[in-house]
Amino acid sequence: MKIDLSRSLLNEQELNLYAEKLAKAEGLLQSGKEAFTGWVKLPYNYDRNEIGRLVETASKIRQQCDVLIVIGIGGSYLGAKACIDMLGHGFPEGQNKLHKSHSPKIYFAGCNLSGTYHAELLEAISNRDVCLCVISKSGTTTEPNIAFSVLKDHLYQKYGREGARRRIYAITDAARGVLREEADREGYDSFIVPDDIGGRYSVLTPVGLLPIAVAGIDIYEILEGAQSRAEAPKIRGVDLNDQRQTDQRQTGQKQTNFDLALTDAELFAVARHALNNKGKQIEIYEYYEPKLQYFMEWLKQLFGESQGKEGKGIFPASLQFTADLHSMGQFLQEGNQIFFETVFNVLKPEKDILVPETAGELLAGRSMNAVNQAAVTGVMVAHEKAGIPMIKIDIPELSAFYFGQMVYFFEKACALGGYLLEVDPFTQPGVESYKNEMREALVDLAGK
Ligand code: PA5
Repeated sequence: MKIDLSRSLLNEQELNLYAEKLAKAEGLLQSGKEAFTGWVKLPYNYDRNEIGRLVETASKIRQQCDVLIVIGIGGSYLGAKACIDMLGHGFPEGQNKLHKSHSPKIYFAGCNLSGTYHAELLEAISNRDVCLCVISKSGTTTEPNIAFSVLKDHLYQKYGREGARRRIYAITDAARGVLREEADREGYDSFIVPDDIGGRYSVLTPVGLLPIAVAGIDIYEILEGAQSRAEAPKIRGVDLNDQRQTDQRQTGQKQTNFDLALTDAELFAVARHALNNKGKQIEIYEYYEPKLQYFMEWLKQLFGESQGKEGKGIFPASLQFTADLHSMGQFLQEGNQIFFETVFNVLKPEKDILVPETAGELLAGRSMNAVNQAAVTGVMVAHEKAGIPMIKIDIPELSAFYFGQMVYFFEKACALGGYLLEVDPFTQPGVESYKNEMREALVDLAGK
Protein backbone atom coordinates (compact mmCIF):
# COMPACT_ATOMS: atom_id res chain seq x y z
CA MET A 1 0.00 0.00 0.00
CA LYS A 2 1.20 3.46 -0.78
CA ILE A 3 -0.24 6.85 0.05
CA ASP A 4 0.06 9.66 -2.48
CA LEU A 5 -0.47 13.24 -1.28
CA SER A 6 0.59 14.89 -4.53
CA ARG A 7 -2.94 16.16 -5.17
CA SER A 8 -3.86 16.87 -1.57
CA LEU A 9 -3.28 20.63 -2.01
CA LEU A 10 -1.26 20.48 1.21
CA ASN A 11 2.31 21.54 1.62
CA GLU A 12 5.02 20.39 3.98
CA GLN A 13 4.62 23.36 6.32
CA GLU A 14 0.92 22.62 6.77
CA LEU A 15 1.67 19.00 7.65
CA ASN A 16 4.59 19.86 9.91
CA LEU A 17 2.31 22.00 12.07
CA TYR A 18 1.08 18.80 13.67
CA ALA A 19 4.40 16.95 13.96
CA GLU A 20 4.74 17.42 17.71
CA LYS A 21 1.14 16.41 18.44
CA LEU A 22 1.55 13.40 16.19
CA ALA A 23 4.68 12.25 18.02
CA LYS A 24 2.78 12.48 21.32
CA ALA A 25 -0.13 10.54 19.84
CA GLU A 26 2.23 7.77 18.65
CA GLY A 27 3.79 7.69 22.11
CA LEU A 28 0.36 7.23 23.71
CA LEU A 29 -0.58 4.41 21.34
CA GLN A 30 2.71 2.56 21.76
CA SER A 31 2.85 3.01 25.55
CA GLY A 32 0.44 0.14 26.13
CA LYS A 33 -1.04 2.19 28.97
CA GLU A 34 -4.06 3.65 27.16
CA ALA A 35 -7.40 1.87 27.49
CA PHE A 36 -8.56 -0.07 24.41
CA THR A 37 -5.20 -0.09 22.63
CA GLY A 38 -4.78 -3.88 22.70
CA TRP A 39 -5.05 -3.92 18.88
CA VAL A 40 -1.81 -1.91 18.47
CA LYS A 41 0.53 -4.84 19.13
CA LEU A 42 -1.97 -7.60 18.35
CA PRO A 43 -0.56 -8.53 14.90
CA TYR A 44 2.61 -9.91 16.48
CA ASN A 45 1.38 -10.55 20.04
CA TYR A 46 -1.63 -12.69 19.27
CA ASP A 47 -2.23 -15.94 21.15
CA ARG A 48 -0.96 -18.67 18.76
CA ASN A 49 -2.87 -21.45 20.57
CA GLU A 50 -6.14 -19.52 20.42
CA ILE A 51 -5.70 -18.88 16.70
CA GLY A 52 -4.90 -22.57 16.19
CA ARG A 53 -8.15 -23.50 18.00
CA LEU A 54 -9.98 -20.95 15.86
CA VAL A 55 -8.72 -22.52 12.63
CA GLU A 56 -9.77 -25.99 13.86
CA THR A 57 -13.20 -24.66 14.81
CA ALA A 58 -13.58 -23.05 11.38
CA SER A 59 -12.85 -26.33 9.64
CA LYS A 60 -15.37 -28.11 11.93
CA ILE A 61 -18.02 -25.51 11.00
CA ARG A 62 -17.26 -26.04 7.30
CA GLN A 63 -18.01 -29.75 7.68
CA GLN A 64 -21.12 -29.14 9.79
CA CYS A 65 -23.22 -26.83 7.62
CA ASP A 66 -24.22 -25.41 4.23
CA VAL A 67 -24.83 -21.99 5.73
CA LEU A 68 -23.10 -20.13 8.54
CA ILE A 69 -25.13 -17.21 9.83
CA VAL A 70 -23.00 -14.55 11.47
CA ILE A 71 -25.12 -12.58 13.94
CA GLY A 72 -23.78 -9.17 14.94
CA ILE A 73 -23.88 -5.46 14.23
CA GLY A 74 -21.37 -2.62 13.79
CA GLY A 75 -17.88 -3.71 14.73
CA SER A 76 -19.20 -7.21 15.35
CA TYR A 77 -19.85 -7.91 11.65
CA LEU A 78 -18.53 -5.22 9.29
CA GLY A 79 -14.90 -6.38 9.28
CA ALA A 80 -15.78 -9.98 8.43
CA LYS A 81 -18.25 -8.88 5.75
CA ALA A 82 -15.68 -6.47 4.30
CA CYS A 83 -13.08 -9.24 4.02
CA ILE A 84 -15.37 -11.98 2.71
CA ASP A 85 -16.82 -9.64 0.07
CA MET A 86 -13.38 -8.33 -0.90
CA LEU A 87 -11.83 -11.76 -1.38
CA GLY A 88 -14.82 -13.91 -2.31
CA HIS A 89 -16.60 -14.28 -5.63
CA GLY A 90 -18.95 -11.43 -6.50
CA PHE A 91 -21.83 -13.72 -7.54
CA PRO A 92 -23.53 -16.52 -5.53
CA GLU A 93 -22.86 -19.10 -8.28
CA GLY A 94 -19.12 -18.55 -7.91
CA GLN A 95 -18.94 -18.54 -4.16
CA ASN A 96 -17.24 -21.91 -3.80
CA LYS A 97 -14.11 -20.64 -5.47
CA LEU A 98 -12.25 -19.94 -2.22
CA HIS A 99 -11.41 -23.55 -1.59
CA LYS A 100 -12.17 -26.68 -3.52
CA SER A 101 -13.85 -28.63 -0.73
CA HIS A 102 -17.25 -27.87 0.73
CA SER A 103 -17.62 -24.19 1.56
CA PRO A 104 -20.66 -22.91 3.45
CA LYS A 105 -22.39 -19.76 2.37
CA ILE A 106 -21.96 -16.97 4.90
CA TYR A 107 -25.07 -14.92 5.64
CA PHE A 108 -25.37 -12.05 8.10
CA ALA A 109 -28.19 -11.38 10.57
CA GLY A 110 -28.86 -9.02 13.46
CA CYS A 111 -27.38 -6.09 11.56
CA ASN A 112 -30.82 -4.53 11.08
CA LEU A 113 -34.30 -4.80 12.60
CA SER A 114 -36.11 -5.63 9.38
CA GLY A 115 -38.79 -8.31 9.77
CA THR A 116 -38.71 -8.83 6.01
CA TYR A 117 -34.93 -9.42 5.96
CA HIS A 118 -35.07 -11.98 8.73
CA ALA A 119 -38.22 -13.67 7.39
CA GLU A 120 -36.53 -14.07 4.00
CA LEU A 121 -33.40 -15.38 5.69
CA LEU A 122 -35.51 -18.08 7.37
CA GLU A 123 -37.06 -18.91 3.98
CA ALA A 124 -33.59 -19.14 2.42
CA ILE A 125 -32.26 -21.57 5.03
CA SER A 126 -35.35 -23.77 5.42
CA ASN A 127 -33.74 -26.76 3.66
CA ARG A 128 -30.15 -26.07 4.58
CA ASP A 129 -27.88 -27.27 7.35
CA VAL A 130 -27.12 -24.23 9.45
CA CYS A 131 -24.64 -23.09 12.11
CA LEU A 132 -24.79 -19.79 14.00
CA CYS A 133 -21.90 -17.59 15.02
CA VAL A 134 -23.27 -15.00 17.43
CA ILE A 135 -20.95 -12.06 18.10
CA SER A 136 -21.51 -9.34 20.66
CA LYS A 137 -18.89 -7.84 22.92
CA SER A 138 -21.46 -6.46 25.36
CA GLY A 139 -23.93 -9.29 24.85
CA THR A 140 -26.75 -6.80 25.32
CA THR A 141 -27.26 -5.28 21.85
CA THR A 142 -30.90 -5.44 20.73
CA GLU A 143 -30.47 -6.25 17.03
CA PRO A 144 -28.27 -9.35 17.43
CA ASN A 145 -30.26 -10.45 20.50
CA ILE A 146 -33.49 -10.57 18.50
CA ALA A 147 -31.90 -12.29 15.51
CA PHE A 148 -30.20 -14.82 17.78
CA SER A 149 -33.53 -15.72 19.46
CA VAL A 150 -35.25 -16.14 16.10
CA LEU A 151 -32.48 -18.28 14.61
CA LYS A 152 -31.97 -20.29 17.81
CA ASP A 153 -35.67 -21.19 17.71
CA HIS A 154 -35.20 -22.36 14.14
CA LEU A 155 -32.26 -24.55 15.22
CA TYR A 156 -34.20 -25.97 18.21
CA GLN A 157 -37.04 -27.01 15.90
CA LYS A 158 -34.71 -28.53 13.37
CA TYR A 159 -32.04 -30.20 15.52
CA GLY A 160 -33.49 -30.23 19.06
CA ARG A 161 -31.85 -28.31 21.90
CA GLU A 162 -28.84 -30.60 22.19
CA GLY A 163 -28.20 -30.62 18.44
CA ALA A 164 -28.60 -26.86 18.33
CA ARG A 165 -26.01 -26.35 21.06
CA ARG A 166 -23.39 -28.07 18.92
CA ARG A 167 -24.14 -25.69 16.05
CA ILE A 168 -23.90 -22.43 17.98
CA TYR A 169 -20.60 -20.57 18.31
CA ALA A 170 -20.37 -17.49 20.51
CA ILE A 171 -17.84 -14.65 20.51
CA THR A 172 -18.22 -12.29 23.45
CA ASP A 173 -16.63 -10.86 26.58
CA ALA A 174 -14.58 -13.22 28.77
CA ALA A 175 -16.70 -12.76 31.88
CA ARG A 176 -19.56 -10.25 31.49
CA GLY A 177 -22.91 -10.15 29.74
CA VAL A 178 -25.86 -12.44 29.07
CA LEU A 179 -24.25 -13.98 26.01
CA ARG A 180 -21.25 -15.11 28.08
CA GLU A 181 -23.61 -16.55 30.72
CA GLU A 182 -25.59 -18.40 28.06
CA ALA A 183 -22.48 -19.69 26.28
CA ASP A 184 -21.11 -21.10 29.54
CA ARG A 185 -24.45 -22.51 30.65
CA GLU A 186 -25.25 -24.17 27.30
CA GLY A 187 -21.68 -25.22 26.57
CA TYR A 188 -21.35 -23.44 23.21
CA ASP A 189 -17.89 -23.39 21.64
CA SER A 190 -16.85 -19.83 22.39
CA PHE A 191 -14.12 -17.27 21.81
CA ILE A 192 -13.27 -14.05 23.60
CA VAL A 193 -13.37 -10.43 22.47
CA PRO A 194 -10.34 -9.11 24.36
CA ASP A 195 -11.16 -6.57 27.05
CA ASP A 196 -8.71 -4.03 25.70
CA ILE A 197 -10.05 -4.03 22.11
CA GLY A 198 -13.26 -2.20 21.16
CA GLY A 199 -15.80 -3.45 18.58
CA ARG A 200 -14.62 -1.47 15.56
CA TYR A 201 -10.95 -2.33 16.20
CA SER A 202 -11.67 -6.06 16.59
CA VAL A 203 -11.40 -7.45 13.03
CA LEU A 204 -8.10 -9.20 13.79
CA THR A 205 -9.58 -10.97 16.84
CA PRO A 206 -11.98 -13.97 16.68
CA VAL A 207 -14.75 -11.42 15.93
CA GLY A 208 -13.50 -11.07 12.35
CA LEU A 209 -11.21 -14.04 12.03
CA LEU A 210 -13.64 -16.91 12.77
CA PRO A 211 -16.18 -16.05 10.01
CA ILE A 212 -13.33 -15.16 7.67
CA ALA A 213 -11.64 -18.54 8.29
CA VAL A 214 -14.95 -20.35 7.70
CA ALA A 215 -15.08 -18.61 4.31
CA GLY A 216 -11.78 -20.34 3.48
CA ILE A 217 -9.56 -17.27 3.67
CA ASP A 218 -6.06 -17.70 5.10
CA ILE A 219 -6.13 -15.76 8.37
CA TYR A 220 -2.38 -16.19 8.93
CA GLU A 221 -1.81 -14.17 5.76
CA ILE A 222 -4.13 -11.49 7.09
CA LEU A 223 -2.17 -11.35 10.34
CA GLU A 224 1.10 -11.22 8.40
CA GLY A 225 -0.20 -8.29 6.37
CA ALA A 226 -1.21 -6.46 9.55
CA GLN A 227 2.16 -7.26 11.08
CA SER A 228 3.98 -5.76 8.10
CA ARG A 229 2.30 -2.44 8.97
CA ALA A 230 2.56 -2.74 12.73
CA GLU A 231 6.32 -3.07 12.48
CA ALA A 232 6.86 -0.79 9.48
CA PRO A 233 9.99 1.31 9.88
CA LYS A 234 9.71 5.08 9.58
CA ILE A 235 9.92 6.11 5.96
CA ARG A 236 12.04 9.05 4.95
CA GLY A 237 9.68 11.34 3.12
CA VAL A 238 7.55 11.06 0.02
CA ASP A 239 8.71 12.35 -3.34
CA LEU A 240 5.60 13.62 -5.04
CA ASN A 241 7.34 14.14 -8.38
CA ASP A 242 8.16 10.43 -8.57
CA GLN A 243 4.62 9.50 -7.75
CA ARG A 244 3.16 11.61 -10.51
CA GLN A 245 5.29 10.05 -13.23
CA THR A 246 3.07 6.97 -13.06
CA ASP A 247 0.09 8.97 -14.32
CA GLN A 248 -0.92 8.75 -17.93
CA ARG A 249 -1.76 12.46 -18.12
CA GLN A 250 -0.25 15.47 -16.41
CA THR A 251 -1.91 18.76 -15.60
CA GLY A 252 1.32 20.71 -15.58
CA GLN A 253 0.55 22.22 -12.17
CA LYS A 254 3.34 22.96 -9.75
CA GLN A 255 4.16 20.05 -7.49
CA THR A 256 5.35 20.02 -3.92
CA ASN A 257 7.90 17.69 -2.35
CA PHE A 258 7.48 16.39 1.15
CA ASP A 259 10.38 15.30 3.27
CA LEU A 260 8.66 14.15 6.40
CA ALA A 261 9.87 11.24 8.46
CA LEU A 262 6.39 9.82 8.87
CA THR A 263 4.87 6.41 8.28
CA ASP A 264 2.07 6.20 5.73
CA ALA A 265 -0.56 5.90 8.48
CA GLU A 266 0.84 9.00 10.17
CA LEU A 267 0.86 10.88 6.87
CA PHE A 268 -2.76 9.92 6.21
CA ALA A 269 -3.83 10.93 9.72
CA VAL A 270 -2.10 14.28 9.52
CA ALA A 271 -3.26 15.03 5.96
CA ARG A 272 -6.93 14.44 6.88
CA HIS A 273 -6.50 16.56 9.98
CA ALA A 274 -4.90 19.41 8.02
CA LEU A 275 -7.66 19.32 5.40
CA ASN A 276 -10.29 19.37 8.14
CA ASN A 277 -8.62 22.42 9.65
CA LYS A 278 -8.75 24.06 6.21
CA GLY A 279 -12.55 23.73 6.29
CA LYS A 280 -13.15 20.33 4.68
CA GLN A 281 -15.95 18.67 6.67
CA ILE A 282 -16.56 15.55 4.59
CA GLU A 283 -14.23 12.80 3.41
CA ILE A 284 -15.44 10.77 0.46
CA TYR A 285 -13.91 7.32 -0.02
CA GLU A 286 -13.99 6.62 -3.75
CA TYR A 287 -13.36 3.15 -5.14
CA TYR A 288 -13.44 1.53 -8.56
CA GLU A 289 -13.70 -2.14 -7.49
CA PRO A 290 -17.22 -3.04 -6.28
CA LYS A 291 -15.74 -5.70 -3.99
CA LEU A 292 -14.52 -2.88 -1.76
CA GLN A 293 -18.06 -1.74 -0.90
CA TYR A 294 -18.15 -3.22 2.59
CA PHE A 295 -14.59 -2.23 3.33
CA MET A 296 -15.89 1.32 2.95
CA GLU A 297 -18.75 0.54 5.34
CA TRP A 298 -16.20 -0.73 7.86
CA LEU A 299 -14.10 2.41 7.33
CA LYS A 300 -17.12 4.68 7.82
CA GLN A 301 -17.83 3.06 11.16
CA LEU A 302 -14.19 3.17 12.20
CA PHE A 303 -13.71 6.85 11.49
CA GLY A 304 -17.27 8.04 12.19
CA GLU A 305 -17.54 6.38 15.58
CA SER A 306 -13.96 7.04 16.65
CA GLN A 307 -13.73 10.71 15.74
CA GLY A 308 -17.28 12.07 15.53
CA LYS A 309 -17.72 13.44 19.04
CA GLU A 310 -17.66 16.68 21.03
CA GLY A 311 -18.86 18.55 17.93
CA LYS A 312 -15.74 17.47 15.99
CA GLY A 313 -14.83 15.02 13.26
CA ILE A 314 -14.94 14.59 9.51
CA PHE A 315 -18.15 13.04 8.13
CA PRO A 316 -17.12 9.85 6.27
CA ALA A 317 -18.98 9.04 3.05
CA SER A 318 -18.32 6.66 0.18
CA LEU A 319 -18.99 6.54 -3.55
CA GLN A 320 -18.59 3.62 -5.91
CA PHE A 321 -17.10 4.62 -9.24
CA THR A 322 -17.78 4.68 -12.03
CA ALA A 323 -21.45 4.05 -11.11
CA ASP A 324 -21.78 7.05 -8.80
CA LEU A 325 -20.09 9.39 -11.26
CA HIS A 326 -23.37 9.18 -13.15
CA SER A 327 -25.32 10.36 -10.11
CA MET A 328 -22.96 12.31 -7.85
CA GLY A 329 -20.25 13.30 -10.33
CA GLN A 330 -21.92 16.61 -11.05
CA PHE A 331 -21.98 17.58 -7.36
CA LEU A 332 -18.35 16.62 -6.93
CA GLN A 333 -17.23 18.66 -9.91
CA GLU A 334 -19.30 21.78 -9.36
CA GLY A 335 -21.19 21.54 -6.06
CA ASN A 336 -20.48 22.83 -2.55
CA GLN A 337 -16.78 22.13 -2.01
CA ILE A 338 -16.96 21.06 1.64
CA PHE A 339 -15.25 17.72 0.99
CA PHE A 340 -12.00 16.05 0.09
CA GLU A 341 -11.56 12.70 -1.59
CA THR A 342 -9.66 9.57 -0.63
CA VAL A 343 -9.25 7.52 -3.79
CA PHE A 344 -8.67 3.75 -3.58
CA ASN A 345 -6.82 2.39 -6.58
CA VAL A 346 -6.23 -1.37 -6.96
CA LEU A 347 -3.07 -1.76 -9.04
CA LYS A 348 -3.40 -5.42 -10.02
CA PRO A 349 -7.04 -6.51 -10.25
CA GLU A 350 -7.57 -10.25 -9.89
CA LYS A 351 -9.24 -10.86 -13.25
CA ASP A 352 -9.68 -9.09 -16.56
CA ILE A 353 -11.47 -9.35 -19.88
CA LEU A 354 -10.82 -7.83 -23.29
CA VAL A 355 -13.30 -5.38 -24.77
CA PRO A 356 -14.62 -6.82 -28.08
CA GLU A 357 -14.43 -5.10 -31.48
CA THR A 358 -18.12 -4.18 -31.35
CA ALA A 359 -17.42 -1.64 -28.56
CA GLY A 360 -15.92 0.78 -31.08
CA GLU A 361 -12.45 1.95 -32.08
CA LEU A 362 -11.44 3.73 -28.86
CA LEU A 363 -12.20 0.72 -26.66
CA ALA A 364 -11.86 -2.35 -28.87
CA GLY A 365 -9.14 -4.79 -27.84
CA ARG A 366 -8.35 -3.01 -24.60
CA SER A 367 -8.43 -4.68 -21.24
CA MET A 368 -11.46 -3.65 -19.20
CA ASN A 369 -9.18 -2.87 -16.27
CA ALA A 370 -7.16 -0.51 -18.46
CA VAL A 371 -10.38 1.34 -19.23
CA ASN A 372 -11.11 1.44 -15.47
CA GLN A 373 -7.62 2.92 -14.91
CA ALA A 374 -8.31 5.54 -17.58
CA ALA A 375 -11.40 6.43 -15.56
CA VAL A 376 -9.28 6.80 -12.39
CA THR A 377 -6.87 9.11 -14.21
CA GLY A 378 -9.60 11.07 -15.98
CA VAL A 379 -11.61 11.64 -12.81
CA MET A 380 -8.55 12.71 -10.84
CA VAL A 381 -7.48 15.18 -13.52
CA ALA A 382 -11.01 16.60 -13.76
CA HIS A 383 -11.28 16.90 -9.98
CA GLU A 384 -7.86 18.47 -9.74
CA LYS A 385 -9.04 21.11 -12.20
CA ALA A 386 -12.05 21.68 -9.93
CA GLY A 387 -9.68 22.29 -6.99
CA ILE A 388 -10.72 19.23 -4.98
CA PRO A 389 -8.04 17.96 -2.56
CA MET A 390 -7.35 14.27 -3.15
CA ILE A 391 -5.45 11.62 -1.23
CA LYS A 392 -4.71 8.53 -3.33
CA ILE A 393 -4.16 5.13 -1.80
CA ASP A 394 -2.64 2.49 -4.07
CA ILE A 395 -3.42 -1.10 -3.10
CA PRO A 396 -1.18 -3.62 -4.90
CA GLU A 397 -3.95 -6.26 -5.09
CA LEU A 398 -6.99 -7.53 -3.23
CA SER A 399 -5.53 -10.38 -1.17
CA ALA A 400 -5.64 -11.63 2.43
CA PHE A 401 -2.22 -10.06 3.05
CA TYR A 402 -3.28 -6.63 1.85
CA PHE A 403 -6.61 -6.86 3.66
CA GLY A 404 -4.60 -7.25 6.89
CA GLN A 405 -2.35 -4.40 5.92
CA MET A 406 -5.29 -2.12 5.13
CA VAL A 407 -7.06 -2.93 8.39
CA TYR A 408 -4.03 -2.08 10.47
CA PHE A 409 -3.16 1.00 8.41
CA PHE A 410 -6.62 2.52 8.87
CA GLU A 411 -6.97 1.55 12.54
CA LYS A 412 -3.66 3.26 13.24
CA ALA A 413 -4.46 6.36 11.17
CA CYS A 414 -7.89 6.61 12.79
CA ALA A 415 -6.58 6.39 16.36
CA LEU A 416 -3.82 8.92 15.64
CA GLY A 417 -6.35 11.24 14.00
CA GLY A 418 -8.55 11.01 17.09
CA TYR A 419 -5.68 12.15 19.29
CA LEU A 420 -4.91 14.99 16.87
CA LEU A 421 -8.54 16.08 17.23
CA GLU A 422 -8.24 15.72 21.00
CA VAL A 423 -11.07 13.23 21.28
CA ASP A 424 -10.94 9.71 22.70
CA PRO A 425 -10.96 7.46 19.61
CA PHE A 426 -12.03 4.40 21.60
CA THR A 427 -15.36 5.45 23.09
CA GLN A 428 -18.81 5.68 21.50
CA PRO A 429 -21.05 7.51 23.97
CA GLY A 430 -23.41 8.52 21.15
CA VAL A 431 -24.04 4.89 20.18
CA GLU A 432 -24.64 3.97 23.83
CA SER A 433 -27.13 6.81 24.13
CA TYR A 434 -29.14 5.53 21.12
CA LYS A 435 -29.07 2.00 22.57
CA ASN A 436 -30.40 3.26 25.94
CA GLU A 437 -33.12 5.43 24.39
CA MET A 438 -34.30 2.53 22.25
CA ARG A 439 -34.54 0.32 25.33
CA GLU A 440 -36.70 3.04 26.98
CA ALA A 441 -38.93 3.18 23.89
CA LEU A 442 -39.35 -0.60 24.08
CA VAL A 443 -40.30 -0.38 27.76
CA ASP A 444 -42.95 2.19 26.79
CA LEU A 445 -44.19 -0.08 24.03
CA ALA A 446 -44.46 -3.02 26.44
CA GLY A 447 -46.49 -0.87 28.88
CA LYS A 448 -49.15 -0.01 26.26
O1 PA5 B 1 -17.47 -0.25 17.76
C1 PA5 B 1 -18.32 -0.47 18.60
O2 PA5 B 1 -18.04 -0.60 19.80
C2 PA5 B 1 -19.79 -0.65 18.24
O3 PA5 B 1 -20.07 -0.29 16.94
C3 PA5 B 1 -20.19 -2.09 18.44
O4 PA5 B 1 -19.38 -2.90 17.63
C4 PA5 B 1 -21.66 -2.34 18.11
O5 PA5 B 1 -22.48 -1.41 18.75
C5 PA5 B 1 -22.06 -3.76 18.55
O6 PA5 B 1 -21.82 -3.91 19.92
P1 PA5 B 1 -21.75 -5.33 20.59
O7 PA5 B 1 -20.62 -6.08 19.99
O8 PA5 B 1 -21.54 -5.06 22.05
O9 PA5 B 1 -23.06 -6.02 20.33
